Amino acid sequence: MKVTVVGAGAVGASCAEYIAIKDFASEVVLIDIKEGFAEGKAMDLMQTASLNGFDTRITGVTNDYSKTAGSDVAVITSGIPRKPGMTREELIGTNANIVKSVVEQLVKYSPNVIVIVVSNPMDTMAYLVHKATKLPKNHIIGMGGALDSARFKYRLAEALNSPISDVDGMVIAAHSDSGMLPLTRLASYRGVPVTEFLSADRLNQVAEDTKVGGATLTKLLGTSAWYAPGAAVSALVQAIACDQKKLFPCSVLLEGEYGQKDVCVGVPVIIGRDGVEKIVEVKLNDAEKAKFAESTEAVREVNKALAS
Ligand code: NAI
Repeated sequence: MKVTVVGAGAVGASCAEYIAIKDFASEVVLIDIKEGFAEGKAMDLMQTASLNGFDTRITGVTNDYSKTAGSDVAVITSGIPRKPGMTREELIGTNANIVKSVVEQLVKYSPNVIVIVVSNPMDTMAYLVHKATKLPKNHIIGMGGALDSARFKYRLAEALNSPISDVDGMVIAAHSDSGMLPLTRLASYRGVPVTEFLSADRLNQVAEDTKVGGATLTKLLGTSAWYAPGAAVSALVQAIACDQKKLFPCSVLLEGEYGQKDVCVGVPVIIGRDGVEKIVEVKLNDAEKAKFAESTEAVREVNKALAS
């Protein structure tokens, strides 16, 4: 399994590190536009190999896409992150140009690649990749829900005072502060609905804290987070590499599912060797359906900027 990670910045380097530590890929190519930067990150990471006990070969290149040829999976993290007070949507102008030029280069050298889109605004960037390439729709995966769900589980465990591995929950819809839909109704603590343990007010608070999870960290760090985003990406790459058939909420092209068409937004999918192997249609109640439709409409509004 050869994996290319475009953008050797905070998220790109973090996901390369997690992929290497889990030791399921033969090769990771880090590529960045900044002269020598990816080479430096790759060398630093390779010098952890004997300490961390992995055999994955990490190389770094500056803008030479021929070195990415034959990649099975490519992760796009290139672009600017938000600063405190910014929304993800405000990044569109700069990042759309970067993502478009990057994916065209990637596909030229790896025509059958599975692309994981991370750059923000992610749902719109995933849609852009559909428009800019002829890749099959199951080969384009937007990463947002996997991260947002991890943040949801963190907040649920905090509220329940339980270990994080005992809780389960999922966040669907847009990867934006206002668009995320944490499915509190379906969240569970060891199989028992969390509504048995937490009041409606407390659950509401958990959902709100989840939605601003990225903004909270951006305020604390001065830039957006990287450990959990990197771990979420590496979990998706591993599900593909190891054909795990794992269920994650990911931003994928909808063609009628959830009553939506021609838009990428977060829904539960099964991820395996073929990328998105199935879109899972969860039965939403009326309030959730309305919220999902509103969130999707907001993504469509952002998508309009791609035409200008
Ligand atoms: P960063 O600034 O640390 O790294 C970005 C890297 O991209 C830089 O090293 C830069 O030189 C490189 N780059 C810029 N243009 C390029 C090009 N044309 N080709 C190759 N490399 C290029 O930023 P960070 O924190 O790694 O975030 C990256 C992106 O991921 C941002 O858009 C951020 O908003 C997004 N993000 C998305 C998340 C999600 O859940 N979908 C979570 C966290 C971040």
